[in-house]
Amino acid sequence: MAARNSNARYGWVAIALHWLMAPAIIGLFALGWWMRQLSYYDPWYRQGPELHKGIGILLLGLLLLRLVWKLLNPSPAAEAGTPRWQALAARLAHGILYLLLLVIMTSGYLISTADGRAIDVFGWFSVPATVQGLPHQEDIAGQVHEILAWSLMALVALHALAALRHHFIDRDATLRKMLGMRARPQSGQSPELTTTQ
Ligand code: HEM
Ligand code: HEM
Repeated sequence: MAARNSNARYGWVAIALHWLMAPAIIGLFALGWWMRQLSYYDPWYRQGPELHKGIGILLLGLLLLRLVWKLLNPSPAAEAGTPRWQALAARLAHGILYLLLLVIMTSGYLISTADGRAIDVFGWFSVPATVQGLPHQEDIAGQVHEILAWSLMALVALHALAALRHHFIDRDATLRKMLGMRARPQSGQSPELTTTQ
């Protein structure tokens, strides 16, 4: 399988980044929600946030890589026969997913570094505080982080349902493309994939 995307298929780099990040992001949401319920005396009271921040920074690195990769090679087009509004809605939803991820991760960084302390990533390296002392930085960044994390989960649920609908109801190759499988010709439908970019 080619590394780069083509008009008809995702390359392995985009596929690997999508499937490496998706479970990690959902796991980070669950960890974030869980660690906030812990009492001060719980052994995970400190370890939970350390793990959350460490994984979060690694994911931020992967997200930046993914955005650069996307700029360098555009995603495959919607399948032939997809209504124009649906192709546009999918592209808009993907754009909003990227934007939500970027703002959630930036706000997480702003919460963690509001007191001027660097973020230690599993003892491998640390990310210094840069912006600090904004009015109510920790509280406002914390609220933005929480609200957008829930919004992300809602949009991800819609996104996954749309992918499953394409696969099981429309029976087209949308999900198979993201799984790196070959497009299968459908009865009465052309296997050719057209380009919109
Ligand atoms: C997509 C990535 C992320 C998701 C889905 C996520 C999700 C969450 C959730 C659901 C909470 C609990 C919110 C609450 O109930 O108050 C939380 C808290 C937190 N997150 Fe994240 N997070 C992500 C990335 C990050 C990153 C990159 C950092 C920092 C480097 C970070 C730092 C924090 C901190 C410090 C808290 C505790 C907030 C507080 O005590 O008010 N998060 N996160
Ligand atoms: C945290 C979870 C997830 C996030 C943040 C996410 C995000 C994204 C993004 C940003 C894209 C656009 C890729 C591009 O630049 O072209 C995409 C594509 C895609 N995702 Fe996800 N995704 C997640 C989970 C899932 C799940 C669970 C499924 C399947 C059930 C799925 C199926 C797909 C498919 C089929 C595409 C290709 C869509 C197309 O070609 O129009 N994703 N995803």
